[in-house]
Amino acid sequence: MKPDMSVKIAGINLRNPVMTASGTFGYGQEFAEYVNLEKIGAFVTKGLSLMPRAGNPTPRIVETPGGMLNAIGLQNVGIDAFIEKKVPFLRTVDTPAIANFFGYTIDEYAELARRLDAIPEITGLEVNISCPNVKQGGIVFGTDPACAAAVVTACRAATSKTLIVKLSPNVTDVVAMAQACADAGADALSLINTLTGMAIDLQKRKPVLANITGGLSGPAIKPVALRMVWQVAKAVKVPIIGIGGIMNATDALEFILAGASAVQVGTASFINPNAAEEIAVGMESWLTENGVASVSSLIGALEA
Ligand SMILES: Cc1cc2nc3c(=O)[nH]c(=O)nc-3n(C[C@H](O)[C@H](O)[C@H](O)COP(=O)(O)O)c2cc1C
Repeated sequence: MKPDMSVKIAGINLRNPVMTASGTFGYGQEFAEYVNLEKIGAFVTKGLSLMPRAGNPTPRIVETPGGMLNAIGLQNVGIDAFIEKKVPFLRTVDTPAIANFFGYTIDEYAELARRLDAIPEITGLEVNISCPNVKQGGIVFGTDPACAAAVVTACRAATSKTLIVKLSPNVTDVVAMAQACADAGADALSLINTLTGMAIDLQKRKPVLANITGGLSGPAIKPVALRMVWQVAKAVKVPIIGIGGIMNATDALEFILAGASAVQVGTASFINPNAAEEIAVGMESWLTENGVASVSSLIGALEA
């Protein structure tokens, strides 16, 4: 018998637990010729802002041992062009589309949540709180529990869709951040976003990235991500989506054992655009081989 691969993230039913991560899968359409979008659980759009953004100057990507650094700078088409040019494609795919978004003030976050709430093709919202708060001296929303809670409260009031809050790992106490977001009304939490890092060119005596620092992703961050998912899963009741260095089905299943109800695949899609679909197939095979009837029975089943 085929195992039951379905999972539920608050109000969203997924055919399997494999989603794609924001910023690594365009707006969905770009990957449609490589991936059967109806074989993955859900896909997440590039982070959207109220106005279009050109992003940072180049070079803005560099490979590092076991991963990559990116300083794309949240380049995106902006909410108006998203609605006009990207949403029509979403109508053609029978898979939940999650819109990732960010603002520089709480009002911007709320306005985006309101605009996205009105789009029937969008199933859920993922709030990226790893953004500087321009009104409070540039402190990153996602590093201060009270700031993060204020963003979540404002977004919660602006949408009735499933609200996922994406946590930054660049904090001392990720559990405090998770609890603040859950208490403020998040339906689910996704973690982790990239870890801040840098690369140096010795001969030039210069940073490799024009932005100097960038976000580290890929296999190098998996142990950190697993640890954070495990800690957060023990502390909050809302479902968790595990992200960070997931390259294969084994990685994905480890996150499920740690307490994630679903996972997101990011950097792996740059190496193999079909990675997410192949990971979903691989997970199902593992369940079959190991006589596990449902993937949901593995959520948080780590013996520790
Ligand atoms: C090139 C690139 C762009 C990204 N853009 C976004 C973004 O717009 N919004 C966001 O929340 N996360 C963004 N991320 C973070 C990923 O969604 C993910 O959290 C992170 O890369 C860790 O997963 P991975 O190791 O599987 O790549 C980006 C990552 C990369 C590599």
